[in-house]
Amino acid sequence: MNKMPEFRKNDRYKRSSFRAYNWKMPPRYDSCIWLKLGKVDLLDDAVLREISNDDVSIRILDIGCATGRLLYKLAKHGYTNLSGVDLAPRIIEVARNKLSPFKINLNLKTADSEDHLPWPDNSFDVITLTGVIHHFYRLDDALKEACRVLDKDGKLIIWDPWFPVIIRQIVNSWLYFFPHDGDYRFYTPKKVENSLQETGLKNTRYRKIGFWTYIITGEKSS
Ligand SMILES: C[S@@+](CC[C@H](N)C(=O)[O-])C[C@H]1O[C@@H](n2cnc3c(N)ncnc32)[C@H](O)[C@@H]1O
Repeated sequence: MNKMPEFRKNDRYKRSSFRAYNWKMPPRYDSCIWLKLGKVDLLDDAVLREISNDDVSIRILDIGCATGRLLYKLAKHGYTNLSGVDLAPRIIEVARNKLSPFKINLNLKTADSEDHLPWPDNSFDVITLTGVIHHFYRLDDALKEACRVLDKDGKLIIWDPWFPVIIRQIVNSWLYFFPHDGDYRFYTPKKVENSLQETGLKNTRYRKIGFWTYIITGEKSS
């Protein structure tokens, strides 16, 4: 895919995401310094604990899956029903190659998850968004769409970077003028939790993991 898709006229963040994750990142994303500095292995462990289920056939969707970093770990833990979606087709191809040795039911698609996820209602038992929501200009639309494809009693798991107020405001102001690799803004956990509740998720809770990240979970009402 060598052409930029048609995004909405003013969606410069999405253009920036696409540029970064379709062309620049595919060969180098997994060795990015921020994955090491952000201790993503600890975050992935927290996600795996949140998912922890004896039924390895539960249906899991990773939104903004990039190179399939998390999907690979889920496959290694024995989960057999994995789906991923990303804006950038080229990075999805990296995920496809990485996951090809596993004998699992794998479904990888390209889509803009703020607009439409290409699955019917109630398709998944677990949905993860790891390090993705700061790319969303329309966070509420993206969460509503995630909630639509989440099955009743299914679980949504989000982690994203956390910053002290002043630093967050400076970073967000900077990103307003200079979008960096599609980063739009870093939301507060409270804002994300409120959005999840407005979307209709119950039992939402958030906690910090280390100093720089937070994890939020919520469940879809039956
Ligand atoms: C920082 S990476 C996070 C990747 C991965 N979840 C992880 O934990 O390493 C953000 C990913 O979200 C994708 N993305 C950004 N906006 C998106 C959108 N609107 N719909 C789908 N994917 C999106 C980008 O293409 C990129 O691959």
